[in-house]
Amino acid sequence: MTRIELQTLEDRWRVYVDRFRTDGVLHPMHQLKLEHSIRVSADARAIAGGMGWPDDEVNLAEAVGLLHDTARFPQFEQYGTFSDAESVDHGDLGFQTLEAEGLLAGLADEPRALILHSVQYHNKKELPRILTAHEEKHLRLIRDADRLDIFFICWESIRTGHIHDNPEIAMGIDFNGLPSDAVLDQFESGEAIDYRSMQSMADRFVLQLSWMHDLSYDSSKRLVRERGLLEKFIDILPVKTDRLLNCFETTATLLEQA
Ligand SMILES: [Fe+2]
Repeated sequence: MTRIELQTLEDRWRVYVDRFRTDGVLHPMHQLKLEHSIRVSADARAIAGGMGWPDDEVNLAEAVGLLHDTARFPQFEQYGTFSDAESVDHGDLGFQTLEAEGLLAGLADEPRALILHSVQYHNKKELPRILTAHEEKHLRLIRDADRLDIFFICWESIRTGHIHDNPEIAMGIDFNGLPSDAVLDQFESGEAIDYRSMQSMADRFVLQLSWMHDLSYDSSKRLVRERGLLEKFIDILPVKTDRLLNCFETTATLLEQA
């Protein structure tokens, strides 16, 4: 994707987002998603650049980053929530919205299908097996970039006392509670964290550590390290137990190898 194609996409996407403004102002929840999308597009560019991808691939990664949460705008307008379980799958709706709004008009078939699939599958639990190698490369990148920003949002919202404005992060769990044995066991054995075992914000942090282990690209791990995210997390941990801090040590070792 050329720089000009990327700029065209961005202009068109911003016009689409502007439709959700009232008297020039977005609903605060929409504003959060606009800012998230912009940061994710910058992170996608940084990760792709960090892996030494050529310019057209870096531009494509940035485009996917900007567009990945397009469905958050109609989703919140229609259902008043970002909970997919209570409304609609926002990856699938993103695919449909990009198509219905003609946001990818003029792109060649291959990058167009790649963007649609990356948006559709960015939020799925498992990577689908039906993608081309090129599509999977970009899907992995948007999943890394999205998580990188979730790490930032989690830290920022606790630091500024706005955690409860982010129900996706607060998840209705006990902010000051101890980490649960089940979650620590899962992390230590390298298993996926079962959301049903999560009871405290400490558990939420362990989940995020597990996501750091799941990052696909070394340049994503380097960004986590360079941004000092582990140290930032430790600063704001509501409880610090030895076993919890050991999990952080494990992750720090992993990041140093990237
Ligand atoms: Fe998303």
